[in-house]
Amino acid sequence: MAIRFDKEKNIFLLTTKNTAYAFEIYGERYLRHLYYGKKTRNIESNPQKYFSFSPYPEDLGVSYSPDLFSSEYAFWGMGDFRTPALRLKGADGTGVCDFTYSSYRIFRGRHDLDGIPSARADEKTKTLEITMKDSVTSCTLKLCYTVFSDSDVISRYMILTNKGKNELEIEKCMSFTLDLDRSDLDMVSFWGSHLHECTYERAPLTHGLRSITSRRGSTSHQFNPFFALCSHKASEGFGDVYGFNFVYSGSFLCEVEVDQRSQTRVSVGLGSENFGYTLAKGESFTSPEAIMTYSNTGFDKMTLNLHDFTRRHILPEKAVLAPHPIVLNTWEGCVFNIERKLLVDFADEAVKLGFDMIVMDDGWFGKRLNDNAGLGDWFENRDRFPNGLGELVRTVKDKGIKFGIWVEPEMVNPDSDLYRAHPDWCLHVPERAPALSRNQLVLDMSRPEVIEYLKDSFRKTFHDVPLDYFKWDMNRHLSDVGSAALPPEKQKEVYFRYMKGVYSLLDWFVSEYPDAVIETCSGGGGRYDLAMMTYGIQIWTSDNTNPYDRTDIQASALMAYPAATMSCHVSDPRGSLASLDYRYKVAVGGMLGYEFDIRKMSDEIKKIIAKQIKEYKRFERLMRRGNYHMIASPVKNDYSAYYYVNGDRNEILLTLIEKKGCKKGETRRLKIKDAIPGVTYTDKYSGVSFSGDDLRRGITLPLSGEPDSAYLFYLK
Ligand code: GLA
Repeated sequence: MAIRFDKEKNIFLLTTKNTAYAFEIYGERYLRHLYYGKKTRNIESNPQKYFSFSPYPEDLGVSYSPDLFSSEYAFWGMGDFRTPALRLKGADGTGVCDFTYSSYRIFRGRHDLDGIPSARADEKTKTLEITMKDSVTSCTLKLCYTVFSDSDVISRYMILTNKGKNELEIEKCMSFTLDLDRSDLDMVSFWGSHLHECTYERAPLTHGLRSITSRRGSTSHQFNPFFALCSHKASEGFGDVYGFNFVYSGSFLCEVEVDQRSQTRVSVGLGSENFGYTLAKGESFTSPEAIMTYSNTGFDKMTLNLHDFTRRHILPEKAVLAPHPIVLNTWEGCVFNIERKLLVDFADEAVKLGFDMIVMDDGWFGKRLNDNAGLGDWFENRDRFPNGLGELVRTVKDKGIKFGIWVEPEMVNPDSDLYRAHPDWCLHVPERAPALSRNQLVLDMSRPEVIEYLKDSFRKTFHDVPLDYFKWDMNRHLSDVGSAALPPEKQKEVYFRYMKGVYSLLDWFVSEYPDAVIETCSGGGGRYDLAMMTYGIQIWTSDNTNPYDRTDIQASALMAYPAATMSCHVSDPRGSLASLDYRYKVAVGGMLGYEFDIRKMSDEIKKIIAKQIKEYKRFERLMRRGNYHMIASPVKNDYSAYYYVNGDRNEILLTLIEKKGCKKGETRRLKIKDAIPGVTYTDKYSGVSFSGDDLRRGITLPLSGEPDSAYLFYLK
């Protein structure tokens, strides 16, 4: 049983394949966290040691203090001085609240999150719902724990209902609190910027509060919501690792606080700077969900858990079951200079080379001749497409290749018909001129009429256009966040309502175009998050297609997200042939595509690309569904090495990528611990055979020290 309540001990025990999570009802009213770690059934309550200056309730005395207690969800104001999960402002204006245990319920499946995407339940998914009550505000709080047993993942979210007579405000809302009884931990997180997403960082925890956050209205290039805590000596194959993530695409807050007892409080949620919500009498608020996983055998297992969970419960089924199309995208080769003949020429060539799809990127609509104008006007530019979009797409598809198109629904250029007609439809603050970014403003996606306008435009423009794919982009962050449709007291809700509007439009796309797939993008990896992954088959990982930078970005992204989510393009193939080969070998670490002007390519380059595509199709399934194992991270080494292995362990793709600074003649030993002892594997490239035992012990490979050197071994 994945969820059990021990009535004698008053302990809730949640178990997954390899982990256990436990908490107790203390003093018949408080929820005290007891354990998160390796699977065990022997969980007992520990007495609490009192520290002076820690408040306690009169009836329980020093046996209980909210300041010292390992809590399941931390409230503001009643004597817990660490970072809270929930801060409310009720009728008394103080912010103090004290929710106590009332009842529990265990059920199959999970809650729907009221318009926020969430992990898909399967027949084994179960949820524990704890109901708590605050007598003064008359609110009920449901703490929900959904257990994805096979993936070793537990997700948490909360539902708050105002059952009182007065309106109240939610000032801070986190999806969970986790109090770990240790602080001998390092934190691993990804920071970055546009073109340099997912920069790996690892640092030991110190006393006090550390946070990673986005205040940008999107998960952002600057911080990814994934992070891990690990024992100081943890490595790929050794040590304790706790992994966390948030299933949400807007502003977020992840907090890690080491307190006076050297215990660590972890919380993930919406935070408070960009969030506030007024709850009228009778209304409920549901938070997005946050996930956690634990491995006692290092990062490798944490990564496997997260990959498995994302494939089974996050990505749309078609992203996992069907091959991802190998696309030829117009952007890097042609930028805004696209028109009918170019697309038809592209299609003619792309078919010959074996591409599955061409993607017409930015520049096809309104007055979008450059990035100064056109966003918001979602009808085709008739100068560029005189016979209309439908004719173009049918002409291309008749050649035997699919057609994808770029959209950026959340944005508007001041130079657009939409803005001229509805200047108040963008996020703005009255009497202040909103800041521009890439010459664009952000539409107020919290307004239903804006969503309806977008649906209507796309419905009209695409009604006879048999599209196979949408690249959904988002090229700036949210500033001047105000909505002309909401009263002053509700302005703090705009960030959250914006995301709900975006999700509702994405839901509409999914149902309106059921045969098409979506790839999401935000100037590359600016919204590389689990919530976006519930819609798209993959995400454009970064606008940076330099293979040396990409090697680092992809290695970090793969720590948290499976290859099936990672769109990797070969661009600018006109350098040396070695460079083309290198770019390809880096890109096959994920879902392969290309971005260049195919009309300018020599026959020799086209021949090589056709060969690469044919080859990739042989092992695309392995990347999409197989297990990924990092052997050597490019962040810490002068090379990158990793492999993918299928479930039967009889198909392995081993990759070695040399980075700058590799020394010629040095060797590197690559161990494939999943090779089966006694089985012979033959590399399909060189024809050389290796025994499974040798692969497990490690094969020694010399480094060339030459630029653009990378090697693939396809072992079967
Ligand atoms: C963003 C995307 C690019 C491309 C351009 C088009 O930067 O990340 O791939 O689509 O927008 O404007």
